[in-house]
Amino acid sequence: MVETVLILILSYLLGSIPFALLVGKLGFGIDIRQHGSGNLGGTNTFRVLGKKAGFIVSASDVLKGTLAASLPFLLNADLHPLLAGIPAVIGHCYPVFAKFKGGKAVATSGGVLLFVEPLLFLLVVLIFFIALYICQFVSLSSIIAGIGSVVLGYFFSDLLTTYILIGFTLFLVYRHRQNIVRIANGTEPKVKWIRKRSS
Ligand code: G3P
Repeated sequence: MVETVLILILSYLLGSIPFALLVGKLGFGIDIRQHGSGNLGGTNTFRVLGKKAGFIVSASDVLKGTLAASLPFLLNADLHPLLAGIPAVIGHCYPVFAKFKGGKAVATSGGVLLFVEPLLFLLVVLIFFIALYICQFVSLSSIIAGIGSVVLGYFFSDLLTTYILIGFTLFLVYRHRQNIVRIANGTEPKVKWIRKRSS
């Protein structure tokens, strides 16, 4: 019991590390919350600070989810990795180290999935990029990838994983509610460079 509580707290603290804020402030002297969408995530880092910084933040946000999910294994505790990963996703969105205003759950949920179902994770990443190529909206592609994870989880994974993926996806849609409004009224920015090489 004590172990479980410790893991859940550690997971939340891990998820709370605001890599977008750290990279922006330490690397560029910029508070990314004041720029672009203001979101503390990989997408806004790409948008404001460029591809290299965006990649570093996205990868770090994925890895903190992966590390959180691996805590039961690392500490030899009897807790399902998906359950251990949930507080990290919450921490990423409501970080104690950044006034509880964080990201939108995409990369860190992906990181949790990476530890539990690596193949499924790769397929979900593929779905994300296909969707991004077609629609050019990161937010919509994230939602489509989330829905894809549920469908794939249903066919290729166990019931608990599927239920948690449903939870992650519903939360992800909730976190993207402003993006959905922006897509509907035509003000959501597109990622045009995704098609650059082929056009
Ligand atoms: O992962 C976040 C992304 O889907 C949307 O971010 O900055 O465009 O609101 P943003």
